[in-house]
Amino acid sequence: MSNKNGTAVVTGASSGIGAIYADRLAKRGYNLLLVARDEERMKKLASKLTASYGIEVEILRADLTKHTDVVKLEERLKTDAAISMLVNNAGMASAGPIAAANADTLENLINLNITALTRLTVAVVPSFVARKAGTIINIASVVALNPELIGAAYSGSKAYVLNFTQALQAEVKDSGVRVQAVLPGATSTELWDRSGFPLSHLPSEMVMSAEDMVDAALVGLDKNEQITIPSLPEEKDWQNFISARQALGPNLSRSQPAARYKLN
Ligand SMILES: NC(=O)c1ccc[n+]([C@@H]2O[C@H](COP(=O)([O-])OP(=O)(O)OC[C@H]3O[C@@H](n4cnc5c(N)ncnc54)[C@H](OP(=O)(O)O)[C@@H]3O)[C@@H](O)[C@H]2O)c1
Repeated sequence: MSNKNGTAVVTGASSGIGAIYADRLAKRGYNLLLVARDEERMKKLASKLTASYGIEVEILRADLTKHTDVVKLEERLKTDAAISMLVNNAGMASAGPIAAANADTLENLINLNITALTRLTVAVVPSFVARKAGTIINIASVVALNPELIGAAYSGSKAYVLNFTQALQAEVKDSGVRVQAVLPGATSTELWDRSGFPLSHLPSEMVMSAEDMVDAALVGLDKNEQITIPSLPEEKDWQNFISARQALGPNLSRSQPAARYKLN
């Protein structure tokens, strides 16, 4: 059954932030396509959401570190005209120093946090642009701005998500397509235990509930914010950061090295 809001695709919908997005978007009247590996959890969530909100929920079991599974979802995004929103939320973290890291784990992290997000966005943008409508929400992290806080590959992956989203926003400006990057701070989900850095190691005043995080991010979306940092009290601090970056711009590419790099 189609509805006027269309279908929101939520990756990583089986737990944490993605499960809350699924709930809030269902409440807003979207049909849902839930994507993750744990089918049982998604089935439970789907029955709850169907019963509470009377919308339709479909489940796609996919391991988004695997090329074949990503391609399956890409096909759906390219061909299903009912899809009106993509929430690129599935992600994993990896804590600890690079000197002790497992390269395969970090490759999986890059496949999930970067490659899948990129491919899924590439799959959906052309039809959104053609329809002059559609919303993409990319879940980055404040570690994109604070690389020393947790694992290098994780913060690097989230810096990619932020840069990718900002560049895409510039490309689709005035196209009718909304693109938002959300930068949550520490949020109370399973991600921490899964990454080997228990949440209990953080002071509680740094940790937000997933419900508050998603509700705030959706307020940001409703305000047409391009970047939403739910815990940042002063919006002007972000504006100042952007202004400082823009001030660097004219000097980042010049025909001559700066004076301090001149050979003696
Ligand atoms: N929690 C935080 O402090 C925090 C802060 C900033 C940003 N974030 C970001 O928020 C997003 C959601 O994370 P969360 O905190 O809600 O953690 P979470 O509870 O661990 O949720 C991660 C979701 O991603 C799915 N996922 C993991 N590996 C997958 C794979 N290979 N293929 C498909 N789906 C996979 C998981 O489902 P299955 O296991 O069923 O596949 C789960 O639904 C992530 O992008 C994370 O980086 C979290």
